[in-house]
Amino acid sequence: MILRDDISISVRKLGFAELEDYRDHLLRLDDKSRAARFSGPVDDAFLKSYCLRLVLGPTQIIGAFNRGTLRGACEIDLTSHESGEQGKARLALSVESEWRGLGLGRQLIKESLITCFGCGADHVSMVIGQHGGAMTALARDFGFIESDPGTPGAVARSLTCLTPIMAVA
Ligand SMILES: CC(C)(COP(=O)(O)OP(=O)(O)OC[C@H]1O[C@@H](n2cnc3c(N)ncnc32)[C@H](O)[C@@H]1OP(=O)(O)O)[C@@H](O)C(=O)NCCC(=O)NCCS
Repeated sequence: MILRDDISISVRKLGFAELEDYRDHLLRLDDKSRAARFSGPVDDAFLKSYCLRLVLGPTQIIGAFNRGTLRGACEIDLTSHESGEQGKARLALSVESEWRGLGLGRQLIKESLITCFGCGADHVSMVIGQHGGAMTALARDFGFIESDPGTPGAVARSLTCLTPIMAVA
């Protein structure tokens, strides 16, 4: 995928051995991005142990690479799907701030939805914080609709769950 003359991005599923690339990508996120991604502040130690836990789990990760470095990623959590809640999956995205606005997020959602539907999911959700303007706009473009408006006036990050209602073009 060519974004500009000087930037080309490869979007693909990460292999087991690439979890270190994912950890390094998460560690490069600034505090604000980490809080948006994890619904609250997280430090380096949290991110390292979070990635270690992924080794054992069923989570799939779609990544956006530039010249071998992972600049954006989407986690696909199919746990609920596999544990009997038929057809449910959850996505969580992150793109490093210097790489935003180039279309990585859009491409990651598209590839992730194709993966979800390919795995039999028919209900995909995302949890988005109250400052997630870009994420909400992108999700709506893919047919996600608000299913939980959160608590009005809540001081803590109010979360919105959106569900896609159309297939990927
Ligand atoms: C959300 C996020 C993944 C988007 O990544 P990205 O690579 O910049 O996404 P894209 O470039 O594909 O698209 C961004 C779109 O949002 C729009 N946008 C940016 N800021 C916006 C805002 N505040 N309000 C509305 N739309 C906004 C852009 O104009 C663009 O739309 P366009 O394609 O029609 O021009 C990235 O901002 C991020 O990592 N945020 C922090 C983590 C996070 O919030 N994760 C969500 C939790 S699931």
